[in-house]
Amino acid sequence: MKLLVTGGAGFIGSNFVIYMLNQHPDYEIINVDALTYAGNLENLKSVEHQPNHTFVKADIADAETMNELMSQKVDVVVNFAAESHVDRSILEPDIFVKTNVVGTQVLLDAARKHDIKKFVQVSTDEVYGTLGETGLFTEKTPLAPNSPYSASKAGGDLIVRAYHETYGLPVNITRCSNNYGPFQFPEKLIPLMISKALADELLPVYGDGLNIRDWLYVEDHCSAIDLVIHQGASGEVYNIGGNNERTNLQIVKTILQELGKPESLITHVKDRPGHDRRYGIDPTKTMTQLGWKPRHSFETGIKDTIRWYLGHQEWWTRVQSGAYQKYYAQQYGDRLGDQQG
Ligand code: NAD
Ligand code: DAU
Repeated sequence: MKLLVTGGAGFIGSNFVIYMLNQHPDYEIINVDALTYAGNLENLKSVEHQPNHTFVKADIADAETMNELMSQKVDVVVNFAAESHVDRSILEPDIFVKTNVVGTQVLLDAARKHDIKKFVQVSTDEVYGTLGETGLFTEKTPLAPNSPYSASKAGGDLIVRAYHETYGLPVNITRCSNNYGPFQFPEKLIPLMISKALADELLPVYGDGLNIRDWLYVEDHCSAIDLVIHQGASGEVYNIGGNNERTNLQIVKTILQELGKPESLITHVKDRPGHDRRYGIDPTKTMTQLGWKPRHSFETGIKDTIRWYLGHQEWWTRVQSGAYQKYYAQQYGDRLGDQQG
């Protein structure tokens, strides 16, 4: 099978590429990523010389390149490429619409033209908006996004749905809760708090810190997408989550405890505008119809993640200093923009 993975140099995309190459050593992966600030080829070091993994630096909104890539007998497209950070979307919404809506539509057009067997849109539980104290998001929950990020992801989902209904394109949409694990950019809650705590800096908690997220170890998200690729029924949406709801304060206190740092480092700062109060995923459909089960409990996953960041201080200090962005130029030099295996 030949996969075109977009956004495969980002957090979840790089974990997915490594996961798939391990699980299916006979598969071929074309990994296309624009290498924005969030794309880091260092994440892919362990697979960069594998002959069945090809990296291409390109924007998913570049129709000519997407058509060229999909003409190479691609079977399945998995679209991770996105602007993914809510806080950035509040400051700069336009790039979110360009990548998450227009980029998705460009990919869909190319997929249609080249008779792709399946298009998997990696979406998010944030498209459902926010929950009160009770209830969970199911695949039937109406979309009610509250941030420019989640609105752009919902826009992407709707255009994917429309290509299925109108043109019969075989698609799946996955909606996962908050991921954590290796290679997550240190602007997101868990890696940010780990890096702040290690530097004995203040940990900025938005508002009262009682907002709830439903955390899933990244490898469990990857295994669910693998199942969706192989068994997902065309046109269906699959929710992915591990029933691990925690308040932000619980997360931050766990990190401080694991690192032996004092809770006095916690500082409450001005809240995020439009801040969703609670997310909670009902993954029953994915579990019963696809046989998916998460392998990692939160207790072991968070310990493994903290251990990973402790063992990879060079990785995230290079990310924080911006030095990681030189890697592509160093590695590929004047071949910039060409396809690289
Ligand atoms: P990320 O920001 O770490 O990675 C995004 C990747 O997409 C980067 O490598 C970036 O360079 C690339 N990219 C951005 N714009 C591009 C463009 N125009 N063309 C090509 N590549 C481009 O994000 P992530 O956390 O790994 O999220 C991946 C996907 O999963 C996103 O679609 C996100 O909405 C979704 N998702 C994320 C989470 C989470 O908790 N992180 C949960 C559910 C769903
Ligand atoms: O639910 C899935 C989504 O999870 C994905 O679609 C997004 O791509 C991903 O970024 C994530 O969105 P969140 O907004 O939930 O993640 P973030 O790590 O930015 O924030 C998690 C919670 O922590 C949220 O309630 C805001 C809070 N927070 C975040 C930061 C960065 C803080 O209190 N302080 C912070 O400094």
